[in-house]
Amino acid sequence: MTNPSLLILPGDGIGPEVMAEVRKIIDWYGTKRDMVFDVSEGLVGGCSYDAHGTPLTDETMEKAQEVDAVLLGAVGGPKYDDLDFSVKPERGLLRLRKEMDLYANLRPAQCFDALADFSSLKKDVVAGLDIMIVRELTSGIYFGEPRGIFEEGNERVGINTQRYTESEIERVARSAFELARKRGNKVCSMEKANVMESGILWRAVVSEVHEKEYPDVELSHMYADAGAMQLCRWPKQFDVIVTDNLFGDLLSDAAAMLTGSLGMLPSASLGAPMANGRPKALYEPVHGSAPDIAGQGKANPIACVLSFAMALRYSFDKGDEADRLEAAVEKVLADGVRTADLLGEEGVTPVSTSEMGDAIVAALNASL
Ligand code: IPM
Ligand code: MG
Repeated sequence: MTNPSLLILPGDGIGPEVMAEVRKIIDWYGTKRDMVFDVSEGLVGGCSYDAHGTPLTDETMEKAQEVDAVLLGAVGGPKYDDLDFSVKPERGLLRLRKEMDLYANLRPAQCFDALADFSSLKKDVVAGLDIMIVRELTSGIYFGEPRGIFEEGNERVGINTQRYTESEIERVARSAFELARKRGNKVCSMEKANVMESGILWRAVVSEVHEKEYPDVELSHMYADAGAMQLCRWPKQFDVIVTDNLFGDLLSDAAAMLTGSLGMLPSASLGAPMANGRPKALYEPVHGSAPDIAGQGKANPIACVLSFAMALRYSFDKGDEADRLEAAVEKVLADGVRTADLLGEEGVTPVSTSEMGDAIVAALNASL
């Protein structure tokens, strides 16, 4: 049997630093759990532009299509702000999502007990929080045509198009209902059916899929603006939230902050099953490239480590090993180990990115 394959794309800013810690964990699974991965590495984002004049080469794109899972760090940075839109670092990430057809983006927002005081919301609002945002990732206003900046009369007009087909809504709705069945069995669908036709269709199609295929799951609908408000008011009312690409982008940042730090949150982007039965998959932290702290050993590697845990669960069918890794992270946090983003408590000295990685490896060792 061949080993499962991983393509690692560390990207820009803090991406390489946090990914170096994930490499320690991947190695740990190879030596201690006999789970050896064939790991290859490539460039994406600004670093790829610097080397090849494009944020993603065709070779790397092909490689991403072949492997069992892609792990990505982060892309972007101020150095690339003035680049033409077509070669901006983010275009590399968007090309991966689109060409791999990764339509279901899973963004869990979980509040670790040790960090409940750290949220900007009151402790009782966030303690024990465990919600999952399922964001549609390959369509909507991110990709709809027509788009562009055009001349109209004597001024310019900027155009983007929100567009959803029934089948695009159906498949992401199914992902959300399937997940809900394994969790709290509740889905809340968010759109703006009060102002957008695409929202009216979204609501209707989600309801149809529910009625025909998942009547056992509890379904509710909310306008996305009200949803944002409810996320801040009482987030524990939610289990799974399913929403479109743009609303999902916004709502998942808001949900992330409920947990205290953006440095904690992983994500999985999943597509249709490949020939081997595994879904096409890309795993990445929700945080960005954080150029302000890049290269200083200050970044929190936990979001990236937990993204690998999601890979164990969703790509490699190793839910028990994912549990083990998540428990190791929880243990390290409970022991008071903190990177700089998680400070606040007086008298606590932050650990470096690599010390956090070592602490997680030590906790994994202790779990055996
Ligand atoms: C995200 C990011 C991306 C997005 C950017 C980097 C293109 O904000 O993954 O949430 O808007 O989807
Ligand atoms: Mg975002």
